[in-house]
Amino acid sequence: MPRPKTYRLADGTAAPRPFLKWAGGKQALAAALQKRFPDRFDRYFEPFLGGGSVFFALASGNPVRAVLADENPWLIDTYRGVRSAWRRVAATLDTLPNTKADYYRLRAEDPAGLPLHARAARLIYLNKTCFRGLFRVNRAGRFNVPYGAYDRRLYDPNDLAATARVLRGVDLRCADFESVLDDVTPKDFVYLDPPYVKLGGHADFNRYTKGQFREPDHDRFAALCRDLDRAHVRWLVSQSDTPLVRKLFRGFRIQRIDARREINLDATRRNVGEVVVQNY
Ligand SMILES: C[S@@+](CC[C@H](N)C(=O)[O-])C[C@H]1O[C@@H](n2cnc3c(N)ncnc32)[C@H](O)[C@@H]1O
Repeated sequence: MPRPKTYRLADGTAAPRPFLKWAGGKQALAAALQKRFPDRFDRYFEPFLGGGSVFFALASGNPVRAVLADENPWLIDTYRGVRSAWRRVAATLDTLPNTKADYYRLRAEDPAGLPLHARAARLIYLNKTCFRGLFRVNRAGRFNVPYGAYDRRLYDPNDLAATARVLRGVDLRCADFESVLDDVTPKDFVYLDPPYVKLGGHADFNRYTKGQFREPDHDRFAALCRDLDRAHVRWLVSQSDTPLVRKLFRGFRIQRIDARREINLDATRRNVGEVVVQNY
């Protein structure tokens, strides 16, 4: 066990910045999205959490009662690990050299056998050192991104500390989006950022989870939004501007929003149109 470092941290109220780079991350849009959120709600639900940029922006103001979820178990373990022991996560990261050999050794390791803080450190390490910094799995559910050879800092202690602080008391779940919304009420608010509807071609990113998010999932997702609407639960959805999305959400308020997606495997598609759909 490495000796813990003494960190010089910003004051305890610093806002967390997302510490992972995530495909479809909404960091650039977080403020614009938040402006559209209702002024008041009881609990905040975010069932497609990813890199958490929208929640972190929201939580940097007032404490938020939140239910946060994602189907990716490595991701949820990472948040749990940072919340319960961010210093141990940081200390573990300090022992991991950024070399090709170490990268492939860690990539081959089965995270299931590691304690929570080491699982969190492993994902952060792979995210910061892999090619183009994105999480992607193959059909067997194995992380399969090659080494990126970037000379970058693995973490900022202020971000880990602030993340641990805002996640305190948050209900963090690893689950499919449908079950996460079982206990939502009309007093709550739901922000939903599912994988994008495919625009066609192999450039579309859809490798967050082993199962992938396919057209039947988009149908299931839109049906759930209609059910929530009938139950008077307010929601806002982020999606790509495609004919399928406009068809699935016909009758709801659909607005274009300017998005510059950071991660897109095809450079020519960087400025794909994006919409927000809302039912209030
Ligand atoms: C577009 S990303 C969310 C990005 C996030 N808003 C951010 O700013 O980083 C979509 C997320 O949905 C998750 N996901 C995919 N299928 C899911 C499912 N069936 N239920 C819940 N989450 C799922 C993926 O693991 C991924 O993290």
